[in-house]
Amino acid sequence: MKIADNIKIKIANKQDIPAITWVLEDTLGKDFIYGEKSFEENVEYSFSKSVSHKNEGVYVAKQGEEILGFAWFMNHPPNNGTAILEMFAVRKDMQRQGIGSRLIAEASDLFVKSQKQQGINLRTLYLTTNLSNKSAQTIYGRAGYKIAGEIEGFVGDGNTEVIMIKKVNDTLCPERYRTK
Ligand SMILES: CC(C)(COP(=O)(O)OP(=O)(O)OC[C@H]1O[C@@H](n2cnc3c(N)ncnc32)[C@H](O)[C@@H]1OP(=O)(O)O)[C@@H](O)C(=O)NCCC(=O)NCCS
Repeated sequence: MKIADNIKIKIANKQDIPAITWVLEDTLGKDFIYGEKSFEENVEYSFSKSVSHKNEGVYVAKQGEEILGFAWFMNHPPNNGTAILEMFAVRKDMQRQGIGSRLIAEASDLFVKSQKQQGINLRTLYLTTNLSNKSAQTIYGRAGYKIAGEIEGFVGDGNTEVIMIKKVNDTLCPERYRTK
């Protein structure tokens, strides 16, 4: 049986933060290296509120009690429009086994449902990823995210991000937001 068939996608809690920190250090770590505090303190600061915030969703891919990856969504301020996939990673020694594909597909659905339970009807989810990160784009594509454009210089010169959007609701956006 494949590992991806043997994992569960669950909402994260505070006890999961050390394992999430480990996955981050292994993958996207440099995003949390700033200021005077340590890497671990910065990650703890970012995730400790998120795991219990009703307009955020941190989801983990678990094999038994072991955390293999996570996906983190935000809907701030709460609205019926679009919410962002803020971060998504699978630890390096577990990549290329289908875990990311399952995690992003299920976590996207779970986050949309969690918002719906509060009466929030999101229309889209969106994310940006580096133009060169083709593996991430493949996975996002399989989970229903479509490339909507490229943004040059998004986090500085030399960086081009692609923006990807997943439609999660057929409702039209309010009249005032429609393009004439
Ligand atoms: C992106 C990431 C989450 C994918 O997780 P994963 O568990 O390896 O994903 P999957 O095993 O489900 O991969 C699915 C597909 O993506 C593509 N892919 C994944 N890793 C790849 C690689 N290193 N090179 C080329 N294609 C790759 C393949 O098409 C693969 O399907 P296949 O194995 O059937 O060919 C993981 O590589 C990661 O954590 N990367 C670092 C952080 C990151 O880039 N996050 C997302 C951008 S913000």
